Amino acid sequence: MRLEFSRYTERVGAVRLHEVMRVIELDSSGGGPELPTLAVRRVSEERLLEHMARMAVVIPIRDERLKVFEGLLSAIPHACALIVVSNSKRAPVDRFRLERDVLDQFCYYTQRRALIVHQQSPLLARILQEIGYAALLDAEGRVRDGKAEGMLIGMLLAHTIGKDFVGFVDADNYFPGSVYEYVRIFAAGFSLSPDPEYAMVRILWRYKPKLTYASGLRLDRWGRVSERTNRYLNRLLSLHTDFTTDIIRTANSGEHALSLRLAQLIPYASGYGIEPYQIVALLEHFGSSQASEGLKQLGDHLIDVLQIESRNPHLHENKGLPHIQSMTLQSLSTLYHSSLADEAFRMELREELIQEGLLGPDEEIPVPHILPPFGPYAEAFRNRVELLLEQAWLPARWTWPAS
Ligand code: GDD
Ligand code: MG
Repeated sequence: MRLEFSRYTERVGAVRLHEVMRVIELDSSGGGPELPTLAVRRVSEERLLEHMARMAVVIPIRDERLKVFEGLLSAIPHACALIVVSNSKRAPVDRFRLERDVLDQFCYYTQRRALIVHQQSPLLARILQEIGYAALLDAEGRVRDGKAEGMLIGMLLAHTIGKDFVGFVDADNYFPGSVYEYVRIFAAGFSLSPDPEYAMVRILWRYKPKLTYASGLRLDRWGRVSERTNRYLNRLLSLHTDFTTDIIRTANSGEHALSLRLAQLIPYASGYGIEPYQIVALLEHFGSSQASEGLKQLGDHLIDVLQIESRNPHLHENKGLPHIQSMTLQSLSTLYHSSLADEAFRMELREELIQEGLLGPDEEIPVPHILPPFGPYAEAFRNRVELLLEQAWLPARWTWPAS
C-alpha cells in the first residue's frame, strides 16, 4: 500500500493530530526498488501482515442484515483476530443465534477462530460486576445498551487474547471491498506511526453514495452528522489552543483503530458519542503541558492521531431521520459538556440544535454517560473470563489443538 504521509501536524500537549493522509496505491507489491520520496510512504505487504497479526477486528452488531454481515466477514484479512459483540434481539427469532451460525460457518470453512458474545449475556454482566467495572452496567445489573458499550467489551476481549491493536468495523457495511481497505489502512497507519503503541487511526471515507429520487446517485463527501460534529470539534480545539483550525475531519469515524495501550488510558462516551469523545478525551486528559494524571500515565510517549482517507466509498444501512437526530445529539453532547467548552460555544451549539429542530427550546442537552478507562479492570477481566471464552470461541464443531 502506498500513502501520502501527513505534512502538517498540530501538536496539542502530548497529542499529535495529523492532517488527512490519502491512499495513493492500494497494493504496491511487485514494484522495483523504491526511490526515496519525503511525502509518500510505501508500506510493504509484510509490514501490513505483521500489524494485522497483532490486531483484533471488533464488529459491533445489532439486528443487521445477515447477508451484509456475512459479506463483510469475507473482507477481514485472515491474519486478524475476529471479535463480534452483538446486541441483537433474542426473540421472537434469536438473531444472535443466526449471527453465531453465520460466523461459525465462516470460521469452519476458512479455518480460523473468532469470538462472539452477546452484550446481554448474564455471565458477562456477572464478570463485570465482580471486577467492579460498574459503569458498563445498568440499574438492573445488565450490560448497558449502546454501540460504545459493545466496543468496550470488544476491547476487553482483544486485550484478553493478547492483541496489541484493535480496529472497529460496523456490521452494516455493504461493500466488503471497503472493509478490506479499512483494515489494511489500520495496519498501514500503525506501520507509519512513530510510536504505534500509542496511536489511533481514523478513516475518512472518500464518498458516501446516496440514491436520491430527484437526481439518482449522489456521491456525498460528508455525512449529515459528521459535517456538524467536525465543525464544532474544530471550534473546541481552537478554543483550547487559541488558533483557528480545521484539522479534524474524522469526528464521527465509526471505522477506526487504536493501540490497546492507548485504548486502556482513555474514557469513552456511551452509545454513538464514542468517536467524537475520543478526541475530546485526548484533549482533556493529554492536551496540555500542565502536569496531569493523564500525562503521568503516558510517561514520555506522545499520542498520534492519524486520519486516513480511503479509496472505496462507504455504503451502509440507511436507518432514517430519527436515528440521525439521536446520533447528532449523542455526538454533540460530548462537546457541549466538555470542560474545554466556554459559554459562547455552548450557546451557539444549543441554538443551532434548536433551530434545526433537534432540541426543544426548553430542553437541555443531555449529559453523556462516561465509561471510565478499562485499563484498571483489564487484568481482572482476563483472569475471570475463561468460562465466557469457552462459550464464545468458534468454530464450535472443530477441535483445535490446545495451542
Ligand atoms: N454491540 C452493539 N450494541 N452494537 C451496536 C449497538 C449496540 O447497542 N447499536 C448499534 N450497534 C452496531 C450496529 O449494528 C452497526 O454495526 C454499528 O454498531 C454502527 O451502528 P449504526 O446504527 O449503523 O450507526 P450509524 O451507521 O448511523 O453510524 C455509524 O457511523 C458513524 C459515522 O458515519 C457509527 O459507527 C457511528 O458511531 C459513527 O459516528
Ligand atoms: Mg451504519
